[in-house]
Order: sequence, then C-alpha cells, then structure tokens
Amino acid sequence: MTQLPTVAVIGAGSSGIAALKGLRERGLDATCFEASDRIGGNWVFGNRNGMSAAYRDLHINTSRERMEYSDYPMPADYPDYPHHAQIAAYFDAYVDHFGIRDRIRFETKVEHAARREGGTWELTLGDGAVERFDALVVANGHHWDPRWPEPAFPGADTFRGVQMHAHAYVDNTSLADKDVVVLGMGNSAMDIAVESSYVARTTYLAARRGAWIVPKYLFGRPTDQLRNDPRIPFKIRQKAIHRLVKAYTGSPDRYGLPKPDHEFGESHPTVSGRILDRIQHGRVTPKPNIDRLDGDEVVFADGTRVHADVVVYCTGYKISFPFFDDDLISAPDNHIELFWRAFAPEIPNVFFVGLLQPLGAVMPLAEAQGAWIADHLRGEYALPAPADLRREMAEDQAYMRKRYVASKRHTIQVDFDDYLHKLKRELRDGAERAKARGFALPVPHRAPDRVQV
Ligand SMILES: Cc1cc2nc3c(=O)[nH]c(=O)nc-3n(C[C@H](O)[C@H](O)[C@H](O)COP(=O)(O)OP(=O)(O)OC[C@H]3O[C@@H](n4cnc5c(N)ncnc54)[C@H](O)[C@@H]3O)c2cc1C
Ligand SMILES: NC(=O)c1ccc[n+]([C@@H]2O[C@H](COP(=O)([O-])OP(=O)(O)OC[C@H]3O[C@@H](n4cnc5c(N)ncnc54)[C@H](OP(=O)(O)O)[C@@H]3O)[C@@H](O)[C@H]2O)c1
Repeated sequence: MTQLPTVAVIGAGSSGIAALKGLRERGLDATCFEASDRIGGNWVFGNRNGMSAAYRDLHINTSRERMEYSDYPMPADYPDYPHHAQIAAYFDAYVDHFGIRDRIRFETKVEHAARREGGTWELTLGDGAVERFDALVVANGHHWDPRWPEPAFPGADTFRGVQMHAHAYVDNTSLADKDVVVLGMGNSAMDIAVESSYVARTTYLAARRGAWIVPKYLFGRPTDQLRNDPRIPFKIRQKAIHRLVKAYTGSPDRYGLPKPDHEFGESHPTVSGRILDRIQHGRVTPKPNIDRLDGDEVVFADGTRVHADVVVYCTGYKISFPFFDDDLISAPDNHIELFWRAFAPEIPNVFFVGLLQPLGAVMPLAEAQGAWIADHLRGEYALPAPADLRREMAEDQAYMRKRYVASKRHTIQVDFDDYLHKLKRELRDGAERAKARGFALPVPHRAPDRVQV
C-alpha cells in the first residue's frame, strides 16, 4: 500500500487541534508543534507564548452552541457566552477526548519552515533540531501580532500619556481614575471601553467609521442562533437581520456614534450587549477619529480635545508567518489569496486552518478544514483543475471586495453557514474528481526521518 504523507501542524490552538484530530482520525502520521506549554492559544489568559490577547474578563461573543466542535459539545452547565477559562478548559478536554495529546510537541516553537528539493518541508525547531515532513498545516493564529495605527498619529512620539494596543490589555485596574481614549469600533474596543467605563474618570470611544452594534440576544436567544439559511440569497437574509438590529437599537448615531457608511453584514460584526447602555449612562463618550496627540491631550477630527492619561488602540491585528521567508509565503496588508482560505494555489503541500474571519465562530470551520485537508492528502478529494481554481479564487476575491468595507480587517471574511453549506458540495465534487484521477495521492511520501544538526 502507498504510504501516506507525513504532516506537521504548526500551533495547538483551537484550529491546530481540530486539524490534528481530523488528520489522525483519517490515518495520517501528523505531529503538532506548539510553542507554549499547553493547548488553547488565544484562550489561555497569560499564555506563556506571549501571544494571547485574552483579558481577565474576556467572554466569547459567538454563542457556545455555534462555537463548539460538531462532535464534542461544550459541557451542559456552561452559559451561552462562557468565560475564557471555560473555553480553554474545553479545548484541553477535546484533546484528551480524542486521544491526540501525545501527538503534540509542547514548548517546541517552529522557528523556520523552508521548502527543500522535491518539495519536502524542513522545520527548524526552537532547540535547533531540524525535521522534515511531506506536508505542512499552518494554524498559528492571526490575532497575536498587533496592528498599530499606520502611520502613527502626529504627536504620538511626544505624547505624555500611555499608549497601548488592545493586545496588551489585561484588566481595567490600569485605567482606574484615568482619562481614557479607546480607538476602534471592533469587539476589542467595545469590551475595553465598557470595562474602562466602570473605573476610569472619563472614557472616550473614538472611531473613524461607524458600526452596526449587534446585541448578544434577540428574542431571548443568542443572536447568532437566529435562523440563517444559506439557501436563501444573502441580500434577503441581510435585510431581515438589519431590520431586527435596527428595531432593537435604532441607528448608532442616536447614541452619538458615527452613522455606519455600510449595511449590516458588510463589515465584521461588532457584538456588544453593554456598550449602548454605558454610553446612555454617560460613562462612555463617543468621539470621531483621533486627529493627533498633543502633549497630554488627544485632539479629535472634529477639533475637540480632551485630556488623556491612556490611549488604547483597538486597531486590529496583522496576519503573520514569522517562520516563512517572505518571498515564499506572506500576507502584506493582511492580503493572502488561498482557495477557500485553506489551499495555496502555487504550493501543493501547504495548508492553512483557521485563517479566516467568519461571521460566526472559527472552530467548526477549522474542524471542517482539517477533515477536508486529510481527505485531500489521502487522495479522496482532488482540487479543481488549475484554471477553475484560479477562477473561483478571483470570483471570491471580487465578491469580498464588493461586499465588505475596504479595510485591512476584511481580507479573509467568510459566512459561517454558507462556508459549511458550500463545502459539502465542494467535497462531493472533489471526491468525483479524485475518483477520476484514480485516487492518486497529491503529495507523495518522501520526507526522511528527523535530521539532527
Ligand atoms: C480577544 C479575542 C476574542 C475572540 N473571541 C472569539 C469568539 O468569541 N469566537 C470566535 O470564534 N473567535 C474569537 N476570536 C478569534 C480567535 O482568533 C479564535 O477564537 C481562536 O483563538 C483561533 O484559534 P487559532 O488556533 O487559529 O489561533 P490561536 O488561538 O492564536 O492559536 C495559535 C497557536 O499556535 C501556536 N504557535 C504560533 N506560532 C507558532 C510557532 N512558530 N511554533 C509553534 N507554535 C506556534 C501558538 O502558541 C498558539 O497556541 C477572538 C479573538 C480575540 C483576539
Ligand atoms: N469578546 C470577544 O469575543 C472579542 C473581544 C475582542 C475581539 N474579538 C475578536 O478579535 C478579533 C479582532 O478584533 P479587534 O476589535 O481587536 O480588531 P478589528 O476587528 O480588526 O477592529 C479594528 C478596529 O480599529 C479600526 N482601525 C484600524 N486602524 C485604524 C486607524 N489607523 N485609525 C482609526 N481606526 C482604526 C478599524 O476601523 P475600520 O473598520 O475602518 O478598518 C476597526 O474599527 C475579531 O475577530 C473580534 O471579533 C472578540
């Protein structure tokens, strides 16, 4: 029998463990490398890898039933929106439930991944060891490399207060009795502005663009559990949910926030059950974008200025692959074009898992991607012909550009239900193609064993 390719997985966060489980379940010899001493990545508060963005009181904003893996429910006594500690414990239990812990090499960072003759991957590990694999699955996360305002605001270099990125935010004790400016309209900005509002002297929420603020509940149910049938055209679903959100909160400009320049569903969802209350209680004051910093003051685009001790930039993250040479694989301005966010068109033995920004949760999508990649490596799913693959990718990019507000945060968007729904058809089509190709393995096994240097 032909030997299946060996596979390395980078990262044991929620994406890497789902991929590892899918690969192992389908008989592939897969090894996962994890820089930290534990699994869970972003969900491990104070993770010793230094990469987690979790703050002390972080709760998920996608409901637990949307976030859990398809074959491993979260404990029944979890609330709808559990705390990060419960989420990290759930991922830990998943690894034991599926018996894959022994395939994870903890405290083993992949420093460099290079493609050698014949295409095998050569991984240089933190201890200097070099190991080779036939295929590589990248699951290193994309919410750990902070994106600061680019360029920096005028006066940032001489500002007398503290400037920090949301990634470094731990809890609101550092904001007590301070004048705080929070910049951004994403979920980090919502959470941090709310937390600040309870202890700070003043909290200003500055934004260059408005957002539709989605409550955590509608009709007594988590909002993301409302029916969203991917067979109904997106425009119709968009109108329906837009009406509901508007009926619930009205337009954001009623609260002094900027009026969104787009419809609901055309930007990554901003979910908060609390921000509008805190604004209406007078504890958070909306402001337009920052224009410049001036000594110990922040000057906004409308010319108003406030004293500020702390500015928290909730300005998002960069997609980074520090272990690849830039000319091999990189994502300048978060731009990376992959087939279904998972397959690289030019390199047949590298795959990406969880490199997407869903309207919905990441985990079930990472799980589906892991199984899909495993089917591919077993020769049971074949990609479309190169011309078809290119055409599909171009269509996807064109759709994303048309639908979403132009921003570096909207380069890897997907709709949760649509992705899973369409994937079923793609898997059927790919299985037919694989059969027509005699189930040939797309990536041959040729990597030798561990190489010591
Ligand atoms: C504050 C915050 C809240 C969020 N809330 C939600 C939510 O409610 N719902 C949701 O679906 N998503 C949420 N997200 C998105 C988040 O990215 C996902 O929940 C999830 O953490 C993605 O998992 P991941 O495995 O892809 O990445 P990560 O969780 O970042 O895990 C990556 C893993 O790879 C390891 N690693 C990285 N580089 C290397 C290397 N070179 N060698 C070895 N190991 C390496 C890291 O140590 C880490 O363990 C949130 C993000 C943030 C920042
Ligand atoms: N409770 C939770 O579960 C929770 C909490 C926090 C974060 N998250 C998740 O973590 C991920 C990252 O969220 P995030 O909020 O940190 O980042 P984000 O979603 O990328 O949002 C960044 C925000 O900063 C703005 N911005 C960027 N650069 C700017 C600049 N130079 N000047 C002014 N504004 C600028 C963006 O505006 P534009 O739209 O104009 O680009 C956007 O409003 C998301 O997936 C989010 O859902 C979840």
